[in-house]
Order: sequence, then C-alpha cells, then structure tokens
Amino acid sequence: MRKRIDLNSEQDTIDLAHYIAPLLGPGSVVTLAGELGSGKTFFVKALGAFLGVPDEIDSPSFVIFKEYHCGRYPFYHLDLYRLKHEDELLDLGLLDMIENGITIIEWPEVAENFLPYQNLRLYFGFEAKQRYVEIDADEKLQEYFN
Ligand SMILES: Nc1ncnc2c1ncn2[C@@H]1O[C@H](COP(=O)(O)OP(=O)(O)O)[C@@H](O)[C@H]1O
Ligand SMILES: [Mg+2]
Repeated sequence: MRKRIDLNSEQDTIDLAHYIAPLLGPGSVVTLAGELGSGKTFFVKALGAFLGVPDEIDSPSFVIFKEYHCGRYPFYHLDLYRLKHEDELLDLGLLDMIENGITIIEWPEVAENFLPYQNLRLYFGFEAKQRYVEIDADEKLQEYFN
C-alpha cells in the first residue's frame, strides 16, 4: 500500500527526511524513484544531514556511488542512472554496503531484481505543479506511515 504525501515546498521534503531518518540504521535500504528533477537528491542531502553526515552530499551520477563515514552510520548514496547491467552492482560491493550501513539508491529500477529487500520505496513525482511522494514501506515500518 502506498501512502501519498504532497511536498509543497523544499521544507516539506526536509520535514519528511527528518521523519524518516530515525527509522534507519545499518542494513536499511531506501530506494528513490522518479524523473529527473523530482527531488531525489535533495531528499538524500536532507536525510544525510539528519544522520550526522556533515559533508555536502552531491549527486553521484558520474561515479555511481559515494560513501560517507562521518555520520552516525556508514551512509551509501547510489545513483544507478548510468549503470548498464545489474551484475555491475556486485563489483560495486552493494551487498557489503547494505550489510554495513544505510543504503540509499536513486534510479533503483536496474537493481530491482538484485536487491535482497527494500525497507522503503519512495516515488517522487510532479502532477501539474504539484510535487508529491508516494511511500511504500515494508511491514516493520508501515505503522509509521498511516
Ligand atoms: N518540494 C521540493 N522538494 C525537493 N526539491 C525541490 C522542491 N521544490 C523545489 N525543489 C528543487 O528541485 C530540485 C530537485 O533536484 P534533485 O533533487 O537534484 O532531483 P533528482 O535527484 O530527482 O534529479 C532541487 O534543485 C530543489 O531545490
Ligand atoms: Mg539525483
């Protein structure tokens, strides 16, 4: 079941990140789908800030992933926009990342069949001028999004 939340301002997106951050820890996997400019990276920056990642997070598109070890937990930010084949994920060490830290994945479609699980799936979108996110939480997290 997906829960829809309107994101009328950047602050709404920051508030959402603030709400989600305490739910995450080592082993957490969050996927962020949605077209270019829908606010995925903006959300990751806010999430990182609430998890104590002081470095400025920027888009990892050209390097596929960036890791931050300065926060409360290792924080892995992947952007699979340029990934061609899902087997490349193995070489990146995706499964080790998932085991050790919080793993946030933009453009997760190519990895769909490969991820062992997804705790939160976020779908960012525009409808006319309205920004929104749809949240699909796993069983354990569902109660937080009723
Ligand atoms: N409600 C909002 N939530 C997130 N970003 C917003 C919002 N309103 C405007 N923006 C702007 O939209 C842009 C979204 O870009 P970005 O997060 O890089 O998108 P994506 O990673 O999905 O391609 C940012 O420049 C941000 O400042
Ligand atoms: Mg992005």
